[in-house]
Amino acid sequence: MQALFAPKWSSDVRLDGKTAIVTGANTGIGKETATDLASRGAKVIMACRDMAKGEQAARDILRAVKGAKVVARQLDLADTKSICQFAENIYDTEKTLHYLVNNAGVAICPYATTADGYEMQFGVNHLGHFFLTFLLLDLLKHSAPSRVINVSSAAHAMGKIQFDDLSGEKDYHPVRAYAQSKLANVLFSRELAKRMEAFGVGVYSVDPGAVNTEITRHIRRPFVDVIKTFSFLIKTPADGALTVIYCVVNPESQMVNGGYYNDWLAWRLYFPLQWPLYCSRINCFWQVFTADRPSHQ
Ligand SMILES: NC(=O)c1ccc[n+]([C@@H]2O[C@H](COP(=O)([O-])OP(=O)(O)OC[C@H]3O[C@@H](n4cnc5c(N)ncnc54)[C@H](OP(=O)(O)O)[C@@H]3O)[C@@H](O)[C@H]2O)c1
Repeated sequence: MQALFAPKWSSDVRLDGKTAIVTGANTGIGKETATDLASRGAKVIMACRDMAKGEQAARDILRAVKGAKVVARQLDLADTKSICQFAENIYDTEKTLHYLVNNAGVAICPYATTADGYEMQFGVNHLGHFFLTFLLLDLLKHSAPSRVINVSSAAHAMGKIQFDDLSGEKDYHPVRAYAQSKLANVLFSRELAKRMEAFGVGVYSVDPGAVNTEITRHIRRPFVDVIKTFSFLIKTPADGALTVIYCVVNPESQMVNGGYYNDWLAWRLYFPLQWPLYCSRINCFWQVFTADRPSHQ
């Protein structure tokens, strides 16, 4: 509804000479983001799970944007081997990386696990992007000023991190698992922002709002029919991409590092009681995944 009445943000900032990676760029918010960044002159690497869909989307963008520099590359965020191969390929082919848009996502799906045995939504939406970002950090630092944008959701507010059941085996609920993964996106953004500030790498999380995309693919009827009936009230994918694009192009002086953005506004997060606990636990998590172990170990 908001999308119908709020004045739309726009910017004519050019990104010539910049390189961006957009995950999940074959459809929805990711494809619109890739199209916009390409139209500003950036080289866009479209990181897609399904190469047939990725190459088709790249062809669509090449047709729509004169002189677009876009390329589709394979990335399955549910498989650490694929993430490693993707990152290796980036280091082999790219000298710089200015924007990493961690957009891909799976929502409210039946229970499934990643190749490494994590619950799928937590594994793809958070862990896969966490690992990808970690692998690309050197290039982002080398290319500074650079940015990481993690696409989260308002659903993060319902999230709780189940540290004792990250594989989700004990008590799986698809909505809870989605909310947990989106909360992890926000927490990760905050922590990464702190760690990267000195290196000139800005980090933001984004709630795109309610957007008419394929994200409902796992939601069962009749709920999905209700959503489709009222789809005229929700954002188009192009409008859903606007806050992501805002976080790419808006001048650094106007950005809140680590901020959570919705409709081009940075919001304060509102879970003060859980916050210190989550931060300390996420820190442990970071150490486990990056072998950045505290000195007492
Ligand atoms: N739409 C909304 O209302 C809404 C609201 C809040 C937040 N979001 C967030 O916005 C982001 C984009 O979603 P969307 O609405 O554009 O949904 P979408 O149309 O379903 O697009 C999701 C993208 O993620 C990709 N993806 C899924 N699993 C993957 C994996 N294992 N490895 C690599 N890519 C994978 C999909 O690839 P395939 O096509 O091959 O499956 C697709 O390109 C998500 O993070 C979502 O949580 C959306």
